[in-house]
Amino acid sequence: MKSWNYQDFIIYQYENLDSTNDEAFKMAQAGHINDREIITALEQNKGKGRLNRNWVSKKGNLYFSLVLKPKVDILRVGQISFVAIAALRLAVEGLAKDCEICNKWPNDLLINNRKVAGLLLESKNDGKICDFVVVGIGVNIASKPILDDKNNANFRADAFAAACLQDFGINVSPEVLLEKFLLKFNDIYQNWLNFGFVGVRNLWLKKAWKLGDEISVNDGDKKIVGIFKNLDEEGRLELLVDGVLKKINVGDVS
Ligand code: BTN
Repeated sequence: MKSWNYQDFIIYQYENLDSTNDEAFKMAQAGHINDREIITALEQNKGKGRLNRNWVSKKGNLYFSLVLKPKVDILRVGQISFVAIAALRLAVEGLAKDCEICNKWPNDLLINNRKVAGLLLESKNDGKICDFVVVGIGVNIASKPILDDKNNANFRADAFAAACLQDFGINVSPEVLLEKFLLKFNDIYQNWLNFGFVGVRNLWLKKAWKLGDEISVNDGDKKIVGIFKNLDEEGRLELLVDGVLKKINVGDVS
C-alpha cells in the first residue's frame, strides 16, 4: 500500500481490494480512518454499484472511497452525493474538449449521453446525526464493461451503452483524476458545510440530464413517467405526473 497527502486529504492506494467502499466502511466503523481520508485501489474484485449491481473494476480506471465525518442531520447526508458528482463533473470538464458532460439523477456522470462514472454513498448514523459517510466513486477511464452484462452498474445508464474517458480523447491517470476531483470537491463541500444545499443544487441543476423533459423512473417494482421539473431541498427528484408533483427518492432514470 502506498499513501500520500494531497491538500487536506490523505490517500491510501492499494494494488487490489474487493471493494474500496467495503474497506473504507470497515475502517470507519473500527475508528481506523479519519475525515477526508481516501481508500483507492488499482483494481477491485467485487466492486459494488447501486441497487446491488456489480461495478466491473479492471486496472486503468479510477476506484476510490472518500470518508467524511460531517456532524450533520441524517436528512442532509444524501446531499453529499450531489456535492461529489458536481465536483467530478467540474474535474472532467477541465480535461474534456467539445463534449457534453451532464449529471444524471441521482448520481451518474454522462458524456455525450453515455455513462462514464457512478457514485455509491454508504453511511452510518446514530438515528439523528451522521457518524460517517463513505462516498464511493468509479470512473471508467481506460475501459468500460462489455455490453452483454446488463447487471453491471457501469454499463447501465440505462438504454445507453457505457463509455470511458478515452473514448472522448481524455487521457488522464487515475491518480491525477483523483487529485483534480479532490481540488473541486474541497471547495464545493466547504460551501455546502457553511451555507447548505442551495449552491450545490444550482450547480448540479445547471447540467442536469433531461431537466424539463419527459423521463421514466424505475423505482424497482414500477415505472413512473413524467416531466423532470426540479431537484428538491433534499435531493429528491420532482416529477410532474398527470399534473401532480411527485417526489422520487431512489430509482433509475431513462
Ligand atoms: C453506480 O453507478 O451504481 C455506482 C458505482 C460505484 C462504484 C464505486 S468504485 C469505488 C467504490 N467501491 C465500490 O465497490 N463501489 C464504488
